[in-house]
Amino acid sequence: MNKMIVALDVDSAAEARALADRLRGIVGGFKIGSRLFMSEGPALVRELADRGDRVFLDLKFHDIPNTVAGAVTAATRLGVWMVNVHASGGAAMMRAGREAADREAARMSRRPPLLIAVTMLTSLSEGMLGEIGVTAGLTTQVDRLAALAQAAGLDGVVASPREIVSIRARCGGEFAIVTPGIRGVADAKDDQHRTLTAVEALAAGASYLVVGRPIIAAADPRAAAEQIAAECRAARVSS
Ligand code: C5P
Repeated sequence: MNKMIVALDVDSAAEARALADRLRGIVGGFKIGSRLFMSEGPALVRELADRGDRVFLDLKFHDIPNTVAGAVTAATRLGVWMVNVHASGGAAMMRAGREAADREAARMSRRPPLLIAVTMLTSLSEGMLGEIGVTAGLTTQVDRLAALAQAAGLDGVVASPREIVSIRARCGGEFAIVTPGIRGVADAKDDQHRTLTAVEALAAGASYLVVGRPIIAAADPRAAAEQIAAECRAARVSS
């Protein structure tokens, strides 16, 4: 399943390697987020990238443009396939990230990583927006940030499955939509508020799915990934 990225939300390189070894070949890539990165650092990112895995470095950079440019340059040097920033950092920050990725990739004669913007965390519910001073509705805010990211030259956004349709309508077919918050009908939602099944998200137009706990916390992670792939095949959605 090329479109499925598994979130390696574990604490050690040993656990991450074990999961990657079990899942390699049946999933499209691995996401390393702040939890694993803070434990194992860039060495593991480089290790997986060097062995040919597509690595999505999910550190959601959000800082002044110069600092984000430096962080994206370093990520590009590690060989990541995808890296992300927060769209709420603004257009200048996102453009700085874009230029840094392109410049460093050109220097290394490589393809630049996909640079993706986080719109609103999928753990945020409509009711929580007021807490952070956002008065627009969730969909309005997500659409606004997606359009800003596209105008800044980014390749796509991270967004909840439930926002896929409106982002597609606004940003077109080429814009990547990376969707976490994927759950089976019977799965626990954990801390995610806006979820869909893998089939529903792909049918709605997601480019990539990020799946964490439904796979990595399963008794048999490979069987759990294969089950999701089988559901997609049965529903005839391209996965
Ligand atoms: O375990 P679960 O499937 O909920 O994992 C989702 C993954 O996607 C986590 O690693 C989480 O940090 C990440 N993510 C998210 N919402 C975003 C961006 C990333 O859930 N907006």
